[in-house]
Amino acid sequence: MFQLIDKLERDRTLTKEEFIELLNHITHETSEYLFEKARRISKKYFGSRIYTRGLVEFTNFCKNDCYYCGIRCSNKNAERYRLSKEEIMSCCEQGYKLGFRTFVLQGGEDPKYSVEAFADIIRTIRTNYPDCAITLSIGERDYDEYKTYFEAGANRFLLRHETANEEHYKKLHPQNLSLAHRKQCLRDLKKIGYQVGTGFMVGSPYQTVECIAEDLLFIRELEPQMVGIGPFISHQDTPFKDEPSGTLELTLFLIGVLRLMLPNGLIPATTALGTIHKNGRELGILAGANVVMPNLSPVKVRKKYSLYDNKICTGEEAAECRMCLQNRVQKIGYELVVDRGDFKPLDSMEPLEQLA
Ligand code: 5AD
Ligand code: FES
Repeated sequence: MFQLIDKLERDRTLTKEEFIELLNHITHETSEYLFEKARRISKKYFGSRIYTRGLVEFTNFCKNDCYYCGIRCSNKNAERYRLSKEEIMSCCEQGYKLGFRTFVLQGGEDPKYSVEAFADIIRTIRTNYPDCAITLSIGERDYDEYKTYFEAGANRFLLRHETANEEHYKKLHPQNLSLAHRKQCLRDLKKIGYQVGTGFMVGSPYQTVECIAEDLLFIRELEPQMVGIGPFISHQDTPFKDEPSGTLELTLFLIGVLRLMLPNGLIPATTALGTIHKNGRELGILAGANVVMPNLSPVKVRKKYSLYDNKICTGEEAAECRMCLQNRVQKIGYELVVDRGDFKPLDSMEPLEQLA
């Protein structure tokens, strides 16, 4: 396995069979070998710097019915909310004071915000915070809508592909959603000029090692600037309520693999990872992650943005999460930075530290 990891580091990819072989032989030793390499690569390009993004969960209305997700439209127990423009602006204002230079507007696919109204929110953030990046995470839209938001001032877009395997996609989503359309959206976003993030859940129901190998190869092909992965965690009001969560070990291993594949990529240690283990996010950083995305949403709505059960940080104020994360990363020898944290092409980056 060590040889496969060496090959992955050298070629930044493996064949499907090799990925499957590697994923079938995860041990403590192979993981440590991988994490050591992943950490060295992160250190080389990012030093001990960890980027932060302020997450504003602005609506939990969603017209989709994904089987894994707590805010699916057929969950009648979800208490729905939607933030006004003023509320969103106040999250940004608070976030800016706390040192965030990226705002991530995330929400369900909520048709209530018209394209014009949403573009207006983006334009206002762009005008008030010219030094900040605006990231959208609002699901599948058509080309023109994505373009309107880009022209209004959005820079980045997060859209996880969820799984790159057709059959698996159908087991996680209702009939009206397709992997082909999801991929089309990702291609459209890239074409328009967004920095794009994709990703998938680890340990989602029916996921096989083969599915994960396909996810990795899809990521290789798409060449996204960001990749977010986190363990699947069941939600009590979904058809997957009794399914087991993804594991810490596999999620960390895949973060390490992604760092070797995307040396300069932006890879978050996600909230879901922090939910399945009390030090999940720190362990994610030590496996190669370089981004954290604390919550900036008003405390009164946090519990309602419930994609999965037992989500952390639902009772804390933005400032508390910021301080908490600052302490956590410091304890493991890293620092949160006040920076947009844009993706930079590899050839434009000065290595901060020489690889031994
Ligand atoms: N467990 C973990 N992650 C989830 N997501 C949605 N539902 C769950 C769940 N039950 C992830 C999806 C989505 C992102 C916003 O949250 O991957 O893209
Ligand atoms: Fe929110 Fe620790 S990051 S409480």
